[in-house]
Amino acid sequence: MKRILLMNGPNLNMLGVREPDIYGRDTLETIENMVVEYGQARGVQVEYFQSNHEGELIDKLHEAHEDFDGVIYNPGAHTHYSYALRDAVASIDTPVVEVHISDVDAREPFRAISVFDGVVVAKISGRGKEGYLDALDVLLAL
Ligand code: DQA
Repeated sequence: MKRILLMNGPNLNMLGVREPDIYGRDTLETIENMVVEYGQARGVQVEYFQSNHEGELIDKLHEAHEDFDGVIYNPGAHTHYSYALRDAVASIDTPVVEVHISDVDAREPFRAISVFDGVVVAKISGRGKEGYLDALDVLLAL
C-alpha cells in the first residue's frame, strides 16, 4: 500500500479560527480526516504532521525519504523564505506537491514568491481544502 505524508507548516494548526474569510472555517483536523478518507477510498495510507517549527519540518521531510511514497505539503509562510525547507525537499527522492488553500498569486506580492519552485512536482493554489485532494490525485497519477 502506498504511504502519503500530509504535512502542514506554521499557523495552519489555527485553521478554522485564523482569517476565515481567506482560509475558510474548516479546522486542520477536519482537513486531515478528509484527506485520510480520500486516501482510504483509493487504497492509500495517509499520515499527517503539522509543526510551527522549521527544524521539525526538515526532520520529517528527511524521514519521508525512507517512509513515504509522496508528500502533500502546505509550507505556510515558509513558502516565501525558507531555503532550508527548499533544500530539505530537494534532498529527498520522494515527490512533494505544494498546496496553498488561498490563491497566493492574488494576494500580497510577497506571497507570489515560492522558494519551492523547481523542487516540487506540482503547486496547487487557491482551491481551498480541495487542493489537498487534488495534490493526492497528482501523486497517484505519477
Ligand atoms: C498559505 C499561504 C501562505 O502565504 C500563508 O503564509 C499561509 C497559508 C495558504 O495555504 O494559502 O500560512 O500557505
